[in-house]
Amino acid sequence: MPTLMQEELECWSQALLEGAGLEAQAAETVAVSLVAANRRGVDSHGVARLPVYAQRLRVGSMNGRPQPKVERVHGAVALIDADHGPGQVAGVLATDLSIELARRHGVGAVAVHRSSHYGTAAYYAIRAARAGLVGISTTNAEPFVIPFGGLLPALGTNPIALAAPTPTGIFDVDMASSQVAHNKIRNAAAEGRSIPEGWGVDEQGHPTTDPNQVFAAVPLGGYKGYGLAVLVEILSAVLAGSGITHGVGRLVEELERPQDVGHFHLALDPEPLVGSARFAELLGGLLEELKAIPAGPDAGEVLVPGEPQARIQAERDRLGIPLPDAQWALLEGLSRELGVPVPDRVGEL
Ligand SMILES: NC(=O)c1ccc[n+]([C@@H]2O[C@H](COP(=O)([O-])OP(=O)(O)OC[C@H]3O[C@@H](n4cnc5c(N)ncnc54)[C@H](O)[C@@H]3O)[C@@H](O)[C@H]2O)c1
Repeated sequence: MPTLMQEELECWSQALLEGAGLEAQAAETVAVSLVAANRRGVDSHGVARLPVYAQRLRVGSMNGRPQPKVERVHGAVALIDADHGPGQVAGVLATDLSIELARRHGVGAVAVHRSSHYGTAAYYAIRAARAGLVGISTTNAEPFVIPFGGLLPALGTNPIALAAPTPTGIFDVDMASSQVAHNKIRNAAAEGRSIPEGWGVDEQGHPTTDPNQVFAAVPLGGYKGYGLAVLVEILSAVLAGSGITHGVGRLVEELERPQDVGHFHLALDPEPLVGSARFAELLGGLLEELKAIPAGPDAGEVLVPGEPQARIQAERDRLGIPLPDAQWALLEGLSRELGVPVPDRVGEL
C-alpha cells in the first residue's frame, strides 16, 4: 500500500482543494485538518473525503471563497455564520474565538451555523487543549441514524469530543453517538469490505453486514446513544439555528444542496477552578489509575480514550500515512481531472 509523509499529503490535499476552487488559506486549513485525522488513524475523516469536497466546491454547494462572520458576541457567548464554507474553516475560527473568550471570561461558547462537514470533533477540542484549556466540540450531521426503536433515520452520527492538557501531553476522547461514524461505512463500501453486524440496518430495519445495503445507522448502545445524539443536536444545531435533522443536506447524495450543518465549540479555563497545574496533575492521576487496572480476560491492557490514536500517530509520523489502493486511485483520478501533479515520493507499507 502506498504511503506519504504528513507534509507531502498536506501539500497534495491543499493543491487538490485549490484545484477544485477553494481559496489558498482555506484549502490549507482543510488539508491540515484532514491529514491530522489520517495521522491519528481516523481514516474515515481524512483525505478519503477530498473527492466529495471537490465535487461540492465545483457545484458551489460548498463555498470556495468563504467569509465566515462573527455575527454576535454577548459576554462569553458568540454565534458564527460559516457562509457555507468548509466546516474546518468555521470550526477553527470558532475554536480560536472560544479560546479568546475563555481567556477573558473563564469560559467561551461559540455556536456555528450555515456550515458544512467539519471532519473530526477532536481536531477542535485538541486545539483548545493546546491553549491550556478544556475543549469540547460537537457537530450535527446529515440524517442517517434511526431514533431508538424507529425505522427511518433522522439524526446524524453527531460526534462529541473533549480534550484537556495533562502533565505529559493532551488527553482526548472523540466519538460518534452512533455505533460507528458514517464514513467508516462509506470507506468499507469504497474498499469492498463487509462491516461488522450492529453498525447499520437495511430498509426493513434488519441488521446487515453489507455496507451497500446500509439504509441507516443505529445509535451507540441503544437508547443511551440516542439520548447523546439528541444532546449533540441541541448543542450544535438548535442553539445555532442551523439545519436540524432533515434540514441538513446529505454530503454525498445531495451534492447540490448546501449542508447547513451546525457546530458547538466550548473552551473552559481550569485556572479559576482547581487551577491549571493542579487540573493537569489530577487528570494525569486519573488516567494513570485507569491504566493501572489489571486487564480483563479479552484485553491485553487497559487503554484510555485517545491512546489508540496517539499510538497510531507516533507510528505514522515515523513511517508515513498509508493510503489503501482504492483511495490512492481515487486521489490520483482527482489529480488528473484537476491537473494537479501526483506526489512521486511514495513509500510502501
Ligand atoms: N463530522 C461529522 O459529521 C462526524 C460524524 C461522526 C463522527 N465523526 C468523527 O468520526 C471519528 C470516529 O468516530 P468513532 O465513534 O467511530 O470513533 P471510535 O469508535 O474509533 O473511537 C471512539 C473513542 O473510543 C476510544 N477508544 C477506542 N478504542 C479504545 C480502547 N480500547 N480503550 C479505550 N478507548 C478506546 C477512542 O480513542 C475514541 O476516543 C471521530 O473523530 C468523530 O469526531 C465526525
